[in-house]
Parts: sequence; structure tokens; C-alpha cells
Amino acid sequence: MDTKTNLMKSMVYVILLCLNLKTHISLAADTITINQSLSGYQTILSADGAFELGFFSPGSSSKSYIGIRYRYSNVVWVANREQPVTNTSSSELRISDGNLVLFNESKSPIWSTNVSSTSGTSVRAVLLDDGNLVLRAGSNSSQPSWQSFDHPTHTWLPEGRLGFSSITKQRQILTSWKSSEDPAPGLYSLELDPNGTNSYILLWNRSKQYWTSGHWDEKSRTFSLVPEMRLNNIYNFSYVKNKNESYFTYSQYGPSTNRFIMDVSGQIKQESWLKTGGWNLFWSQPRKQCEVYACCGAFGSCNERSLPFCNCLNGFEPKSKVEWDLQDYSGGCSRRTGLYSGNATSDNAEKDQFLDMPSMSLLENQVSVDAVSIVQCESICLNNRSCTAYAYDSNGCSIWIGDLSNLQQLTGEDSDGTTLYLRLAASELKNFKSAKSHANKRSLKIATVSATAGLLTVIVGCILWKRTLGKRRERRRKYDETISNVGAKNDAELPVYSLKSILVATNNFSETNKLGEGGFGPVYKGILTESQEVAIKRLSKKSGQGHQEFMNELKLIAKLQHTNLVRLLGCCIEEGEMILIYEYMPNRSLDKFLFDASELTNLDWDKRFQIIEGVAQGVLYIHKYSRLKIIHRDLKASNVLLDETMKPKISDFGMARIFGINQTEANTNRVVGTYGYMAPEYGLYGQFSEKSDVFSYGVLLLEIVSGKRSGSFYHVEQVVTLAGWAWELWKEGKGMEVIDASIRETYRPHEALRCIHVGFLCLQQSPADRPTMSSVIHMLQASDATSLPPAKEPAFSTDIRNSSARGSSETSTRFSNNEVTISLPEAR
Ligand SMILES: *[C@@H]1O[C@H](CO)[C@@H](O)[C@H](O)[C@H]1NC(C)=O
Ligand SMILES: *[C@@H]1O[C@H](CO)[C@@H](O)[C@H](O)[C@H]1NC(C)=O
Ligand SMILES: *[C@@H]1O[C@H](CO)[C@@H](O)[C@H](O)[C@H]1NC(C)=O
Ligand SMILES: *[C@@H]1O[C@H](CO)[C@@H](O)[C@H](O)[C@H]1NC(C)=O
Ligand SMILES: *[C@@H]1O[C@H](CO)[C@@H](O)[C@H](O)[C@H]1NC(C)=O
Ligand SMILES: *[C@@H]1O[C@H](CO)[C@@H](O)[C@H](O)[C@H]1NC(C)=O
Ligand SMILES: *[C@@H]1O[C@H](CO)[C@@H](O)[C@H](O)[C@H]1NC(C)=O
Ligand SMILES: *[C@@H]1O[C@H](CO)[C@@H](O)[C@H](O)[C@H]1NC(C)=O
Ligand SMILES: *[C@@H]1O[C@H](CO)[C@@H](O)[C@H](O)[C@H]1NC(C)=O
Ligand SMILES: *[C@@H]1O[C@H](CO)[C@@H](O)[C@H](O)[C@H]1NC(C)=O
Ligand SMILES: *[C@@H]1O[C@H](CO)[C@@H](O)[C@H](O)[C@H]1NC(C)=O
Ligand SMILES: *[C@@H]1O[C@H](CO)[C@@H](O)[C@H](O)[C@H]1NC(C)=O
Repeated sequence: MDTKTNLMKSMVYVILLCLNLKTHISLAADTITINQSLSGYQTILSADGAFELGFFSPGSSSKSYIGIRYRYSNVVWVANREQPVTNTSSSELRISDGNLVLFNESKSPIWSTNVSSTSGTSVRAVLLDDGNLVLRAGSNSSQPSWQSFDHPTHTWLPEGRLGFSSITKQRQILTSWKSSEDPAPGLYSLELDPNGTNSYILLWNRSKQYWTSGHWDEKSRTFSLVPEMRLNNIYNFSYVKNKNESYFTYSQYGPSTNRFIMDVSGQIKQESWLKTGGWNLFWSQPRKQCEVYACCGAFGSCNERSLPFCNCLNGFEPKSKVEWDLQDYSGGCSRRTGLYSGNATSDNAEKDQFLDMPSMSLLENQVSVDAVSIVQCESICLNNRSCTAYAYDSNGCSIWIGDLSNLQQLTGEDSDGTTLYLRLAASELKNFKSAKSHANKRSLKIATVSATAGLLTVIVGCILWKRTLGKRRERRRKYDETISNVGAKNDAELPVYSLKSILVATNNFSETNKLGEGGFGPVYKGILTESQEVAIKRLSKKSGQGHQEFMNELKLIAKLQHTNLVRLLGCCIEEGEMILIYEYMPNRSLDKFLFDASELTNLDWDKRFQIIEGVAQGVLYIHKYSRLKIIHRDLKASNVLLDETMKPKISDFGMARIFGINQTEANTNRVVGTYGYMAPEYGLYGQFSEKSDVFSYGVLLLEIVSGKRSGSFYHVEQVVTLAGWAWELWKEGKGMEVIDASIRETYRPHEALRCIHVGFLCLQQSPADRPTMSSVIHMLQASDATSLPPAKEPAFSTDIRNSSARGSSETSTRFSNNEVTISLPEAR
């Protein structure tokens, strides 16, 4: 008996030892006192265990930094941003001469809190529950002599301050990391406008302003150019200004985890942590990546519609391939071939030539020169060594001297930019066949311009494709082995197509076949054998699941058949590709009709009502009647496809299930604007249920009736969301004004108003207050308007003071005295 107990004891001991070796060894304290130090894997934890201080190495970097992070998660503060250490076991963070000092391998101090100290033995550093590291000398209550909140790096935590002190002249500025693996200060920073106004600005290289938040409005508690802030009811922002200091700070209402982060992309982001893991993006500014000043560096060009956003101009290559791969584009691009160094004479062949680049956004820093023709303009540029490009348009001739930065390639809808003529070495130009010199050949053909654009796309596409291939080759090889086993076992339940046949069907995934970009990857039109038209979705990332499970899920989903769901016809899993084949919907997606003025007339009221009912039936089916209970989680207009008779079919309905939680979240983050459909409890806490789909359905309902996009209300002064706007009108008895003007002739008022009413019910703050999908259908079909329960104010409709997203009990008490009863106008 005794030996047994001893054996168990020693086993437990060994297990504990192993755990300790693998994980960080916490000093089980929140304080570093004069006799303690941190090195190696040692950390201290805040009293509530939420934050951790210790060494970390970002990504695959071999360099180490002292930082504060959420326990086992993202870093929020870095001490030695620019002086990493390489051997953490021989480096040390400890109190020295009244300061907290980091000593490197050779015991040299490389970072210090650097306060003129009251050197005493009571000096200690404490990590507080809010993530603030404070240095205290003396009693607990005294003001810290130093605190990390006064020296933020790239993350702004609740209770932190961003502003400046008129006394110490100290400023708190958020500065992006240089790259995802290098915390050294990057080129982008957020600071309070130094001119003493209550607005924030984003700066490039601490000098060039590229964004402003607009003024803080105390009444609406938002910045004038960031009305999205009202969508979040988790923050309480406040502005403090007095003789001594001027700053913003914020607190959070609920027990959630939130942050502002100055991202390496140059965007400021507001995010909250989901219970299910992962950050949920509320908004980012500037809204478009390419609005970040010079985000692709010199001779790089930004394209909003490509990933990555940055590419080098033709004839240029990244200055540093490594940094470029780490999404640090700031180094920009350099010429592959140097320019001609001799003096250009009128007809020597080596002299530089110009490549035309259509649809570029206008650059700044141009020099206007007098020229009567494009030929003369070109010749002026050619004869000036420092001239790198010219343009000739209605403003005349402009030339650019030196590096070109802040270039943007415009595509698609907004492609009416300027043609820029880029100076390249003659030998480079041969790579781009359509290029020509105005001085040599006067004739300009529009056709070749578009040919260049096509070529560009293909080249960029190839580069991207190759890069991905190279990185994943090893993983793919392993993966293919697994897949061939799975393939062998697959029965005839779900047809499996070969990659070869998919490539033929889509013309090698050609751009012309591309139908669009769905949440999980691009979708192509394809023609399979027997001239069957299909939509082919190429999944962008592989599932976290095993592949057998993946196939099982697919087979289950293929069995779901409902007239309002897009049918899965087959799949292809080969060479690391995951491809799903769906029935083809000739009328594409609902958003194409709803949000395009020229198409809107094709959607009369009958069609809209058919769509409203059809989507409801489809959602009801996946929630209730299918063998698998599925929560869609990304219900929105672009996921509703229309067949030839404009009957709606929901797409991507099994994807959330296939991909698991993490992938859906990641995608929701990337697709800006989807948050407009997200239920508050899902957006804030990651809790999803049938009722979160009901919420999204409510948004969709209002969109269909009003013809307005949920995310398009940014610029309206008074109200931010579609729901808020509609509610204001509704409350005043002007529900009719919510209805899209273009259907005022075809709609049946009672039906349309009933839809709006049901929409509000679906948008209730508390999930319990929202109807189930089956009662939604019941209500839509009800002939008697009075049978609908009254709607309360929808979630996310007004400013943050009115709608805190805490428990439902609180919400219902708040509204119980104040319920607005809606009576619909008499039908018929
Ligand atoms: C530090 O260590 C010295 C000597 O070991 C001891 O006298 C002193 O009390 C310790 N100080 C603290 C704050 O623990
Ligand atoms: C790091 O330092 C420790 C202690 O000085 C030493 O034992 C170890 O070999 C060093 N590791 C490396 C990789 O240099
Ligand atoms: C430690 O820092 C000092 C001063 O910055 C530097 O000279 C020395 O090379 C560093 N030691 C190591 C091992 O990096
Ligand atoms: C520490 O502060 C002093 C002035 O307060 C300054 O001169 C010195 O450069 C600082 N040292 C470091 C390492 O920041
Ligand atoms: C600080 O407060 C803690 C508990 O709140 C107490 O244990 C500790 O002794 C105090 N330290 C000083 C220096 O007063
Ligand atoms: C501050 O104001 C001055 C003068 O009005 C202006 O020239 C300067 O650009 C402003 N600075 C910023 C950062 O807005
Ligand atoms: C940023 O500004 C500094 C001078 O303030 C300059 O030396 C540096 O080259 C600039 N960086 C870039 C990438 O332009
Ligand atoms: C928001 O913060 C300010 C200042 O801290 C405070 O006065 C106000 O009561 C807070 N508002 C809410 C709704 O908590
Ligand atoms: C400003 O600072 C002075 C000196 O530190 C202090 O006495 C005064 O109370 C402060 N004023 C405000 C409004 O905080
Ligand atoms: C180019 O012309 C300049 C004067 O116009 C002359 O000084 C220079 O030597 C010439 N260079 C070459 C390579 O011919
Ligand atoms: C090139 O053009 C710029 C702007 O007009 C001018 O400042 C510069 O002197 C020119 N350089 C040469 C070599 O002509
Ligand atoms: C989601 O991601 C988190 C952290 O990245 C991980 O711990 C968790 O296992 C993942 N969950 C699934 C279902 O993949």
C-alpha cells in the first residue's frame, strides 16, 4: 500500500515536472521585488491571472523581448522594442537602482524605466489586473513613479490613456510593429492631434497625416468621422482636458476583453475577444487598406481587391523578400534593371522607355511642366535623369522626381484612374510586349492598354500562386497521401471529381470564369461534362479537421436538400486543393440586385416577398428539419443566391460547420461590413445560436424592404445603423418611408409593413425576445396585423448610452416601463 502511494506520488511529481518544463514557469506573484528577477521562461501574473509579464518571441523569430500579454495570447506591450535579446536564460529583468532594468546576455542594461529614483529597498514592479505594469516605491497608495500605460506600444487597453501632459511634455502614442515578427516601431502611429483639438490622427513616419477621426462629440460620444463607434455598446469613451493634461481614455461596461490596436497594416482596429477564441473586429480605420499612406512603400502599388494588397510595379522587385513575406512592405521595391546611365540621344536603342499603367490613382508630389503634347511631356521626363514617371491628362503634363510612393491600382467599379507612364530600362520593357514609346510610335491603341492590364493580372496571379505553392509544398505532400486514402474509401454518395476535370471546366480557374469572392474563397463558373453549368468554389484554407471528418461532413451536407438551399453537387480534394461544386445560379446573389440602382427595378415587391419567405424557409430547414442542426452564422445578402425565376437559395450554409469555429471567426474578421449582420451576443461574446441567425435574418429583411445596405449608414449624422434609421421613422409613424421608393408602385402596404415589424422583432437585443424561425414564417403569413407582438427598440440602433449589451434581464427591465406599442395601419 505504502509503496503504491509513493509510486503515485513520484509519478505525479514527474508529471508536474514535465508540465513545468514545457510551459512558462510562473513566479506565482504579480510583483518583482528587489530580490527577484525574471529570466528564461519565468513570468509574473496579474492578481486575477489575466495578464502575464515575461520574455516572448514573436512568430518564428529567434529574438526575445520582455512583454506583457494576455495570458498565453497576444502581446499588448513590449519593453525593449528595438533591443531584443537572443538568450533569455542569461538575460535578466530586475530592480536596479530604483528602476526596472533589463540586462542582456553580457549583463549590459539595454532597457530601463529610467526614472530618477528614490532608491530604496521597497521599490517593486507590480503587474495590475488591467495590464498596467507599475513601478512603486513606498506605500501602496502612492502614485507610481513609472507605469507602462504612460508608454503604450501598439495596443491601447481599457483604462489606458492616449494623449499628452503639458507638465512632463510626455505623449502617449500608439506605434505599429514593423512587421508581424518585429515589434520595433513601424511607420504608422496614432496620436492625439497635437494642435490641441479633440481628435485623433494617424501619421505615416510621424510626419504625414493620412487619417483623422474628426472631432469628438460629447453628446453622441463618438468621433465625427467614426460613427461605427456607436455600434459598440461595450466601451465608455471619455475625453479629459485640463491645464495639466489632455487625453482620451475608455472603460468597458461588461466583463469582456477589448483592445485598440495600431496594426502593421497602418489601420487602427477596435477588436474584442470572443469566448470561442479569436479577435472579432468591430471596425478599422481607414476603412480601405489602400487609404493608408504609402502602405506599399516606394514603387509598390496597392490594390484593394487583391491579397496581399501590395505588389511591386512592373520591372521592380521587393527590396527585401523576407520582410515582404512578413507583411512589412515599408521597404518598398527596387528596380530589377538599372536605368540607362548614358545621355539619351534622339535614336539610341538603349535609352529608357515608358510602360503605360492604366487606372492608377493620382499620386501626389508631381511637378507640373509646360508641354503641348504627350510626346513633349515624355521627352521632358526622358531628358531629366531624376524623372521616374509622367502623366498627361486634362491637367496637362505632370512628371515625378525620385521614388514613387502611395500608388494605387484601381480595378473594377472605381477603375477610372489616370494612366501613368513609368520609366523603365529598355531591356525590362521587352518583358511587357504592349509597351510603347510615344516618341517612337505615335499610335496609341486602347486595345493594347487592356491587354497590358490582363497580362498584369496573370503575372501577379502567377506570382501569388507560386509563392503559396512553395510555402505549402511540404505540408501538401503529406496531405495528399492522406487524401488518396480517403478517396479510395469514398462511396458514391457525393460525386468526387478530378482536379483535371475541374481545371478544364474552369479554364484553369481563369479570371473570366470568376463569379466572385465568397467568404471562404473564390467562386468560378464552370462547365462540367454534358454541358452542365456549375459554380465551383475553391476553398481558401483547409479545415482544421481531419480529412475523413471533412468528407463525412461534406456527405452529410450533400444530403441536405431544400428548394431554398444551394445544392452541393460534388467535390474535389486533390493536390491540397479543396473544391466544392454547386449548382449554378444564373442570377447571382441578392446584393447584386438590391444594392445596384440599375438592377433594382428587376426586384418588384412580389419578387422581394418571395425572397423574404424563401430565405426564411431555408433557414428554418437548416435550424429545425434537417438531420444536422446548422447555424448559418453568416447570413447576408451576398450569401443569398437567385435562380432563373429569382427564387432565393441560401449558400455557404454548411461551411460554418465544416470549417469549425475558428475559421468562421477569422473570415468574419476579414470581411469588413459583415458585422452589420451580427447579433450583439455573437459579436461581443461569440455566443451563437439559432437566434443569432434570426438577428441576421432581421437585418436582411430590412435591407430587402428598404433597398438599403446595412453597412452604408456611416455618413448619416444622426443614426448609424439601418435598424436605427428604420426605427426612428417607424416610431414616428412614418413606417412607409422605410420602404424602397422603387417599389412604391408594386408593394402591398400591409405586407411590407409587416415585414418591417417582423424585422424589428428579429433584431431585439436579447435573444430570448427574438422569435424562432418558425414563428417568423407564421408572422409573415399572418393576415391579421394585430396578432404581432409589439417590437421594442432594436439592438445597435442608437448611441451607446441607451443599449448596453449585458444580460437580457437588465435590458428587459430597462424597456419595461417604456415599451413602444406599434399599431399597424389598417390593412386594405
Ligand atoms: C532581500 O534580501 C536581503 C538579503 O538576503 C534581505 O535582507 C532583504 O530583506 C530582502 N528584501 C526583500 C524586499 O525581500
Ligand atoms: C544561454 O545561456 C545559458 C546560461 O548562460 C547557457 O547555459 C546556454 O548555453 C545559452 N544558450 C545558448 C543557445 O547560447
Ligand atoms: C548587450 O548590450 C550591449 C550594449 O548595448 C552590447 O554592446 C552587447 O553586444 C550586448 N550583448 C549581447 C550578447 O548582445
Ligand atoms: C534616461 O533619462 C535621461 C533624462 O531623464 C536621459 O538623458 C537618458 O537618455 C535616458 N536614458 C535612456 C536609456 O532612455
Ligand atoms: C501593499 O498591500 C498589500 C495588500 O494589499 C500588502 O500585503 C503589502 O504589505 C502592502 N505593501 C506595502 C509596502 O505597503
Ligand atoms: C497644426 O496647425 C498648424 C497651423 O494651423 C498646421 O500648419 C499644422 O499642419 C497642424 N498640424 C497638424 C498635425 O495638424
Ligand atoms: C522617416 O522620416 C525620417 C526623418 O524624419 C527619414 O530619415 C526616413 O527616411 C523616413 N522613412 C521613410 C521610410 O521614408
Ligand atoms: C462614462 O465615463 C464617464 C467618465 O469616466 C462617467 O462620468 C460616465 O458616468 C460613464 N458613463 C457610463 C454610461 O458608464
Ligand atoms: C495640475 O498639476 C498641479 C501640480 O502637479 C496640481 O496641483 C493640480 O491639481 C493639477 N490640476 C489638475 C486639474 O489636475
Ligand atoms: C552627358 O552629357 C553631359 C553634358 O550634357 C556630359 O557632361 C556627360 O559627360 C555626358 N555623359 C555621357 C555618358 O555621355
Ligand atoms: C528635373 O526636373 C526637376 C523638376 O522640374 C528639376 O528640379 C531638376 O533640376 C531637373 N533635373 C535635371 C537634371 O534636369
Ligand atoms: C481555435 O483556436 C484556438 C487558438 O488559436 C485553439 O486553442 C483551439 O483549439 C481552436 N479550436 C478549434 C476548434 O480548432
